[in-house]
Amino acid sequence: MPFYTKLGKLPSKRHIQFRRPDGRLYAEEVFGTEGFTGPTSTLYHINPPTQVIGWKPLYSTKVEYVERDTMRMRHVRSMPMPAKGDPVTGRTVLFGNNDVEISVCVPAEGMKYHFKNASADECFFIHFGTGFVYTMFGTLKFGPKDYIVIPKGTIYRMVFDTPEAGAPESRFLLIESVNGSHILPPPRYMSKKTAQFLEHAPYCERDLRLPEMPMTIDKKGAFEVRIKSRDQVHAYTYSYHPLDIVGWDGCYYPYCFNIDDFSPIVAKHHMPPPTHQTFEAHNFVICSFCPRPLDFHPQAIVVPYNHSNLDSDEVLYYVEGNYKARKGIEPGSLSLHPQGIPHGPHPGTVESTIGATHTNELAVMCDTFAPLNATKAALGYDDLTYPQSWESGWEPTTNTPAASNGAAHAGSNGKSNGSSNGKSKSAKTTEKNGGKKPSRLIEAKSKGASKVTNTSKNASKKATSAARGSSAARAADTWQ
Ligand SMILES: [Fe+2]
Repeated sequence: MPFYTKLGKLPSKRHIQFRRPDGRLYAEEVFGTEGFTGPTSTLYHINPPTQVIGWKPLYSTKVEYVERDTMRMRHVRSMPMPAKGDPVTGRTVLFGNNDVEISVCVPAEGMKYHFKNASADECFFIHFGTGFVYTMFGTLKFGPKDYIVIPKGTIYRMVFDTPEAGAPESRFLLIESVNGSHILPPPRYMSKKTAQFLEHAPYCERDLRLPEMPMTIDKKGAFEVRIKSRDQVHAYTYSYHPLDIVGWDGCYYPYCFNIDDFSPIVAKHHMPPPTHQTFEAHNFVICSFCPRPLDFHPQAIVVPYNHSNLDSDEVLYYVEGNYKARKGIEPGSLSLHPQGIPHGPHPGTVESTIGATHTNELAVMCDTFAPLNATKAALGYDDLTYPQSWESGWEPTTNTPAASNGAAHAGSNGKSNGSSNGKSKSAKTTEKNGGKKPSRLIEAKSKGASKVTNTSKNASKKATSAARGSSAARAADTWQ
């Protein structure tokens, strides 16, 4: 949506007669934002977009948050989440606040209807899977590691291809701007005079994949369009196919951007997260941490310094890369580092990564300017030992949460319909093993932990020694 484009048939001027082959007028629709002063597109429908023949409320999407007064580090392993629903009903909100909702979806079935999010812009990150999004603006073909930005009000149907034998299940991360703001490239990347991407921007117009043909379906019948608005999904019935646009132009449309096309900016010394910024909306930003050469000062410390991002909560979704330095993290993990307490590299990683020349990390980050809350569904996959993972000698108890047994099975609004007493198997396992409540885990120390500390120190010494002695290029994990 950042720059002007057009697709299909258009009249020579706005708001003039534009006729169908049968002589009747096409129906013009101005798709405007911010009171018609923001990005806008003008669309030409075969049928008046105002005509509907039925409507009813379907289900609530109101998100229920838990532990709203609890501030702690969290690590949610989402990979064990079972496939369910379709690309809309299968979404499980894990974290959110009044500005943004962050969900994971592993769709089990296709959409038999079209969908419009009338409340929020949607930013997908496709972790696994390929397919098409058929939108009113045209067709987007997508694949792994694609961001798909679908602005508020866009009617679409998302269709995943059936994964090949042995391929992982389709899955995506979804970030929604529930405060009504739009997800856009950061203004500092854009020319104030022309809206062109500037030279210092880590991506530009050529990296964005815009809607293409086919676009227009001229068909009569009864077509369901589910509209999300007011914390509710409503079913509207149209007497014609909702993708009936013959042409449009403007600056408001969906698009794809593959994270591998993000050009990371590197420096002599460690660069802060805004260097990796990809999108922003009101009160949150989205960043891409991509494979890149590391800081090249001869004495550079290549992992982030301990940091307090005093005004932000930070969620990282781990896609792929070297997970050895942040213990217990795996693809599909989401870490939440709340404002209020500092975070940084895990013990031993500063020394062990000295001399590393590049990182193969790939992660998507969402920083928010208001505290994030967890949903009950998130607790079902929560690694309760994570807050103490910065203690020397801490080791994860397992890389596979007990939730993988299906203990937690959440609805799209973050409600868990797992174990009847509200505790997930992972929570039960932690309680059984350690008998510690989450709030006490940070202070918990056992004899076993002390023993591991010594072992870890030895391992760290060896790693440091190896690092200093190696002249070969080495990769490091530098998670923020
Ligand atoms: Fe951070």
